[in-house]
Amino acid sequence: MNILQRIRLSVFPDRQDTNHHKHGRRMTFRSFLLHFRPGSVPERTLKLSLTWGLGGMALVLVFLLFGSGLMLKFAYEPTPGKAYESIVYLNNQVPFGRLLRNIHRWSANGLIFVVFLHCLRVFYTSAFAAPRQFNWIIGLTLFSAVVLSNFTGYLLPWDQLAYWAITISTSMLDYIPGIGTAFKEWILGGPEPGPKTLINFYAIHTAILPVLLLFFLPFHFWRIRKADGLVIPRSPGEDPSVKGDMIDSMPHLIMREVSLAVVVLAVVLLSAMFFNAPLADIANPGLSPNPTKAPWYFMGIQEMLMHFHPVFALLVIPGLLLFGLLSIPYINYEANTTGVWFCSHKGRKMALVAVIFATLLTLGAVLLDEFVIGAGQAGAANLINNGLVPFIILLAFCIGFYWVIKRSFNATNNEAVQALFTLLITAFVVLTIIGVWFRGTGMHLMWPA
Ligand code: HEM
Repeated sequence: MNILQRIRLSVFPDRQDTNHHKHGRRMTFRSFLLHFRPGSVPERTLKLSLTWGLGGMALVLVFLLFGSGLMLKFAYEPTPGKAYESIVYLNNQVPFGRLLRNIHRWSANGLIFVVFLHCLRVFYTSAFAAPRQFNWIIGLTLFSAVVLSNFTGYLLPWDQLAYWAITISTSMLDYIPGIGTAFKEWILGGPEPGPKTLINFYAIHTAILPVLLLFFLPFHFWRIRKADGLVIPRSPGEDPSVKGDMIDSMPHLIMREVSLAVVVLAVVLLSAMFFNAPLADIANPGLSPNPTKAPWYFMGIQEMLMHFHPVFALLVIPGLLLFGLLSIPYINYEANTTGVWFCSHKGRKMALVAVIFATLLTLGAVLLDEFVIGAGQAGAANLINNGLVPFIILLAFCIGFYWVIKRSFNATNNEAVQALFTLLITAFVVLTIIGVWFRGTGMHLMWPA
């Protein structure tokens, strides 16, 4: 008997390690797992090219955020006088404190990116269609919770970066007529970020949003079980009712999930070891950096604010986009494309055309506005010239694009809706990239050094 076996026998003196007992333990473990995972799954859903492991990666990152966030709570103090100091103390004095903060920061940023890609994969495999419609809505709720968690966490270090990013993001609300300013002051607990803001953000970040995630994540997974698992990947034209062979989850699914988790943990750990989470000087409400930028995931909106009247940049366009996203699963489609990447070969070509079109047009429109029209900066705009007119042009362009692409490809409405969505998402991504990397002093266009 080796030392480990002797120690174990001292804890469980009655337990004999016969083959019979080992088998019993294995069965207990297996039935425990089956409370969470299905006993068997269609073999085809295990293909990496269906999910790319994105939902699983998102879940691992959520766990990592809960774990690291819980530990950060031991060091962090949510008052303007102490917050920055406590982060500096964590960075320099607490063993592995800096690593812990880096893990939390990179997991949070990675989560937004991974959830965005997961959302795209669900969309492009038509996995939002019945019976999964409501899970798409739950997914959008999760996405909002993830973005808001990031946003509220961004303020907590109370450095210049955090203070001014939150100031600029929340000041966008001022442009919403009627309720904008009151809403902003309600969130901030005053006209500008201060002690109350820190407490509000801290409570939302560490209590309300985690509880929301803890509620909606199991709901998301329960809906997947209720829909009989994931969509079955298939080629265009293949019968959607063919499920293919079933395969035991243990080891085939579980081992893949465990391997994925190990890879995600390794990537986060390596990033945290080599790249430090930024920390600028302590917040100074009297000294705004130039340029003042929102967090990267809101830069698309900040960039839009440079070209459209705030009512359109903050209310009308995002509102319509949100409405579009919520409606996607409830539109009456002509064909059942569930499980087929990009609906069809034609759909793939149409999506590519939309990406090229959106990239060139967005770049062209931004350059035109900056160097020729000079529509000006946020807030200084005119509701008709900088709001209604460009909005009607945009709307007419989207309707025209849908109509022309549907006709020229002789496409179904599944393929045409997908192309339109691709056009809008690409435009938003291009705006975000311009805002993050190509805007410098005074928010003018520049070439990154
Ligand atoms: C914290 C955020 C999220 C987590 C942790 C998460 C997790 C997962 C996991 C583990 C799966 C199964 C495996 C996979 O598809 O990769 C899944 C499937 C799914 N997710 Fe998410 N998800 C999140 C956000 C979203 C979002 C933003 C959407 C869409 C707006 C979404 C819609 C769906 C749908 C419809 C399915 C079923 C797909 C199918 O049947 O093939 N999820 N999610």
